[in-house]
Amino acid sequence: TKKIILDCDPGHDDAIALMLAAGNPEIDLLAITTVGGNAVLEKTTRNARGVMAMAQIIDVPIAAGAVRPLMREGEDADVHGESGLDGVDLPEPTTELDPRHGVDLIIDTIMENEPGSVILVPTGPLTNIAMAIRKEPRIIERVKEVVLMGGGVHVGNWSAVAEFNIKIDPEAAAIVFGAPWKVTMIGLDVTHKALATDEVCDRIRALNTPLADFALGLLTFFRQAYHDAQGFEFPPVHDPVAVATVIDPSVVNLVKAPIHVETKGEHTLGMTVTELRYGHTPEDCHTYAALDLDFEKFWSLVVDAIERLGKQ
Ligand code: BDR
Ligand code: CA
Repeated sequence: TKKIILDCDPGHDDAIALMLAAGNPEIDLLAITTVGGNAVLEKTTRNARGVMAMAQIIDVPIAAGAVRPLMREGEDADVHGESGLDGVDLPEPTTELDPRHGVDLIIDTIMENEPGSVILVPTGPLTNIAMAIRKEPRIIERVKEVVLMGGGVHVGNWSAVAEFNIKIDPEAAAIVFGAPWKVTMIGLDVTHKALATDEVCDRIRALNTPLADFALGLLTFFRQAYHDAQGFEFPPVHDPVAVATVIDPSVVNLVKAPIHVETKGEHTLGMTVTELRYGHTPEDCHTYAALDLDFEKFWSLVVDAIERLGKQ
């Protein structure tokens, strides 16, 4: 199995990422940490715990992390509604919040496990991960890899060239991409293809469980919000693509390429500048960019996880 820590800011697609991580038999979900992002930390933490209750994830520690970006004010995303998870009724949490700070839960979990065994999967702004590196730099060597949702090679959503998770805390992102560990960027190039089409929703509806209905409620709200805010016909369900890549790397096409996060640009703040020119990839390059998605493989993993979780 693959041991992961999911660092998230639910968020509709983070909620689906949680279900995929908890419901896939190849994933050992060691810990969940939350970060301020799509909504303020209090809300993203409440949402994560509500999703855990709904999906009956009971034995996984969850801790709240950073309230706001390292150096900037937080900004709410435009597609998740007032609560950060509008469109569904969240059940009361069934798990206690771990008393540790999220950053400490991340560090402790990595240091307690075998070197080279833990995979970090961030699906929100990278504040917690950057703080964890600064507090305990040994995690850089100790972690197996980082597979994150954020950025994009040729596309933005929070500006013409920058993606939300990176743009919200570009300094944190620069720290995470700059550390000498393996980083895989699951960016908008691929996640804009992870659309919850009518066929996908029909497959989820056919599962006919309370959890499947809950997931459909999320996707239905998300569809309208993405339509209104960004003109999409179907909503791109970004975050579970990072989890799916851990389960089966052939879900995406990866290219090894240097990636630098823009922290100063007037029009390019938060851009993930990806060097794709021939002959410009140094030997010690440790960053990978995803360029394409296997739609069928991806959604099969998600539907299967929702089915398994719904049966418990
Ligand atoms: C990312 O931003 C958030 O709104 C989503 O949850 C996802 O992590 C997409 O840009
Ligand atoms: Ca997210």
